Amino acid sequence: MPSSARRKVFVTRVIDPAALERLRTEATVTVWRDELPPPESVLRSTLKNADAVLSMVTDKIDARLIAEAAHLRIISNLAVGVDNIDLEAATRAGIAIGHTPGVLTEATADLAFGLLMATARRIAEADRHVRAGMWRTWGPMTLLGRDVHSSTLGLIGFGAIGQAMARRAAGFGMRVLYLIYPSSKLHNGRVAGAMGVTLPRLLADSDYVSIHVPLTPKTRHMIGARELAQMKPGAILINTARGPVVDQAAMAAALKSGHLGGAGLDVTDPEPIESGDPILQFDNVVITPHIGSASIAARARMAAIAVENILDVFIGRVPRFCANEQVRLRPLKDAT
Ligand code: DGY
Repeated sequence: MPSSARRKVFVTRVIDPAALERLRTEATVTVWRDELPPPESVLRSTLKNADAVLSMVTDKIDARLIAEAAHLRIISNLAVGVDNIDLEAATRAGIAIGHTPGVLTEATADLAFGLLMATARRIAEADRHVRAGMWRTWGPMTLLGRDVHSSTLGLIGFGAIGQAMARRAAGFGMRVLYLIYPSSKLHNGRVAGAMGVTLPRLLADSDYVSIHVPLTPKTRHMIGARELAQMKPGAILINTARGPVVDQAAMAAALKSGHLGGAGLDVTDPEPIESGDPILQFDNVVITPHIGSASIAARARMAAIAVENILDVFIGRVPRFCANEQVRLRPLKDAT
């Protein structure tokens, strides 16, 4: 293809170099090189002429932006979640939404289980204790935590990442309860002795509750004051899904009362968490900055898939990993 007719792709952050190289063989690529996401005005003006955007979860791609992006044929998100994109508007406009399921499952479950361990055994707090020069001797009552082995883990959402958590929990001798969401079907004992239960039962019986559902209007604040009150006193909440699935103010109140025994959070509402957020004052909360999929291998695979999704659309196919499979791709327009 002559260079003037090459497709234009905007990549909203620096990604794995091999994936970028592959994209450059087929398209004219502009990369936003800042650590912070492109401002809305930049996204808007750039997408007006782009055939594809390789976006991040931090790029809000709303109906207005989609309406102005006359050439755009794919929004390829470097993530499995696509809650940053107006799915209906994109589908109506004939724009495919690519995403990267599968390749980040194990990395995200590793981090979720790490947060569970860190919160249960007070690892981050113990590290702060040592660095602050407070380690004076071995103490029989110092920094006592909770057992992980032989306890009960409740999984809200039992898709790929929820099931990967169940496999990890089985290795630690944990009992596993799960809630399949959004389907209401219960499947008993299908994964390593795990048992499907209702949400109230899961909350009441679990020592650890870990969230693995996408953010949708139905899951927003799915865990609020009522659900937190239904949890076992002293139980720990883990969230590596999306911050707004939990009502953060209600979580802060439950931590303050002591009913909630701790929280391991890779996601917050908003992100980044505001510096004055009450959650930050609790020692029994471990927070990481949305790094669930941030292993070197997982991010490289995500970038490769995000690029392949774009290349699929350039040859007229619906991308192989498509979040709106019903989309009827808009026809190619000549690049300007
Ligand atoms: C996702 O994939 O949705 C994560 O939140 C980013 O890796």
